[in-house]
Amino acid sequence: MTSHYLAVRNAFFSPPHLEGRERELLIQAYESNWIITPGPQVDAFEQEICRKVGVGHAAALASGTAALHLAFVMLGIKNGDEVICSDLTFAATATAIVYCGATPVFIDSNPETWNMDPGLLAEELDSCAKKGKLPKAVFAVDLYGQCADYDRILETCKRHEVPLIEDTAEALGATYNGTFAGKFGAMGVFSFNGNKIITTSGGGMLACDNEDYVKRARFLSTQARDAAPHYQHSQIGYNYRLSNLLAALGRGQLERLDEKIARRRAINEFYRNALKEFPGVEFMPEASYGRMNCWLTVILITPEKFGADREAVRLALEKENIESRPIWKPMHMQPVFKDCRVRGGEVSEDLFERGLCLPSGSRMIEEEFDRVTRAISCSQGSQRNF
Ligand SMILES: Cc1ncc(COP(=O)(O)O)c(C=O)c1O
Repeated sequence: MTSHYLAVRNAFFSPPHLEGRERELLIQAYESNWIITPGPQVDAFEQEICRKVGVGHAAALASGTAALHLAFVMLGIKNGDEVICSDLTFAATATAIVYCGATPVFIDSNPETWNMDPGLLAEELDSCAKKGKLPKAVFAVDLYGQCADYDRILETCKRHEVPLIEDTAEALGATYNGTFAGKFGAMGVFSFNGNKIITTSGGGMLACDNEDYVKRARFLSTQARDAAPHYQHSQIGYNYRLSNLLAALGRGQLERLDEKIARRRAINEFYRNALKEFPGVEFMPEASYGRMNCWLTVILITPEKFGADREAVRLALEKENIESRPIWKPMHMQPVFKDCRVRGGEVSEDLFERGLCLPSGSRMIEEEFDRVTRAISCSQGSQRNF
């Protein structure tokens, strides 16, 4: 380890932040000898998420991806089906569709929210209806902690009688017209992986008001064992349940969710103020219909105005031990999805080209913000890759 490394703390992108009763709850789980899957901490974590989000039922699972996969299994999505999906998202959203043998169809972002464009969704579903082949589900993502426009999306889904699933992996605690993310679809899915606003190191939750879905998710996620004294299986199951130990961690994290959101929103505000004088730097807009949890602060850099492109800025930050990342590469640009249909695509391509996620962890200290803004300032005009 060099002295430079010791002197200058790495500014990570979105590291875990343990500050509350996590240790106490973990020790409780440990001392109860209940470290298997599931257990009393799992039950309590599920109930606490339900209370927080205002949803009826929830099943704690090993990851957000597992929750997405189970949601599709429960909707009966299978080989040959199509599922509509946000184009600008993390790959897990689309890969869960493929796990079921179905094909994703991507919908571009709305430039005002960066989430699924409701107008393009309506065009796509109208066109599918005319062809006589509607998709089996619409899968909307709440990107970077901002809800999609659910009034408009649900209006289209209801008109065509296509169920909506909400991928709210990134948006725990965000609201849409006062209602919490995760409440809008037939099922909502959360992630608690290491970089999320609360973490269990790895984990997820499937939440909804339909108790049957949640009971079935618990059954399928524990190998679909029939009610018999011996091991008997009439259906294919999965090993997808969250462990009792990790649920204890999640409970401690959830108790501080409001503080973490307040902190991340303050970080977003800090960056907005610090970078407001820079030409060619814009921020992800907050839609008037809701309140973001500001999981990540994301900027757009217009190279012709700023004097350096997104990659030059990212490299300048990296040189100073500051981790930043380009925004999600749209699904229609991914080699693995090159044969899938996309409606639009220009907006998400542009956001990818210019978008950079800044360090946004709730543990960040003032000195780190200053380093970030200083490095961005130094990158200005440093490299002309455009
Ligand atoms: C939008 C989105 N969907 C799904 C996932 C998958 O969640 P997990 O990593 O818990 O499987 C993530 C996060 O990683 C995500 O950001």
